[in-house]
Amino acid sequence: MKNPRKEVNAVLKKEAAYFGDIVILPLTELYELVVLKTITICEFGVQNLTAAYIMKCDDDTFIRVDTVLKEIEGISPNKSLYMGNLNLLHRPLRNGKWAVTYEEWPEEAYPPYANGPGYIISIDIANYVISRHGNRRLRLFKMEDVRMGMWVEQFNSSMRAVQYSHSWKFCQYGCMENYFTHITNPRGK
Ligand SMILES: *[C@@H]1O[C@H](CO)[C@@H](O)[C@H](O)[C@H]1NC(C)=O
Ligand SMILES: *[C@@H]1O[C@H](CO)[C@@H](O)[C@H](O)[C@H]1NC(C)=O
Ligand SMILES: *[C@@H]1O[C@H](CO)[C@@H](O)[C@H](O)[C@H]1NC(C)=O
Repeated sequence: MKNPRKEVNAVLKKEAAYFGDIVILPLTELYELVVLKTITICEFGVQNLTAAYIMKCDDDTFIRVDTVLKEIEGISPNKSLYMGNLNLLHRPLRNGKWAVTYEEWPEEAYPPYANGPGYIISIDIANYVISRHGNRRLRLFKMEDVRMGMWVEQFNSSMRAVQYSHSWKFCQYGCMENYFTHITNPRGK
């Protein structure tokens, strides 16, 4: 994703050209556009790759690709998958900086959702997200990770049963041996 600062983009482009392992998608890194970011990642995975799964992570997340692939190998390829550090029955904060109004979220609790720093969805879920977005039929919400949880819940209830796979190994705080993800810059969220 593009950075609002031009010089950051220039350096990143150079790095991508050198190593050939970064794809820069044409979007600006603005909070309001974070919803488009998830959708753009899904589009790239569905339209430009032949991937069976998409792992979304933040730019301060370090991923142990070998460990993640090993875990994925154990999953039936026929199943729709949503894997991450799952939160069950989390309730919105109604006060303070991260407050969520009743207008934004009338329900008591969120659907099960995986923490944002790193989660995996199967490609059929990504496809569903794109087509619902194309029809303007996606429910939107300001928190990226909860929003994906909502979309997966919709998919699960209207399309096909999803295997929800919870693992603590999607680490939120620092580094742990054999974990799937590490946060290089923990924000204490
Ligand atoms: C993805 O594929 C589309 C259509 O083939 C192409 O126009 C686009 O440039 C590709 N995107 C990337 C980032 O390679
Ligand atoms: C996946 O589904 C196909 C057809 O429904 C079936 O033949 C195959 O055995 C399944 N594979 C696994 C690993 O469950
Ligand atoms: C997914 O769907 C199944 C039945 O289709 C339902 O029993 C289950 O509770 C759903 N899971 C979630 C997390 O919504």
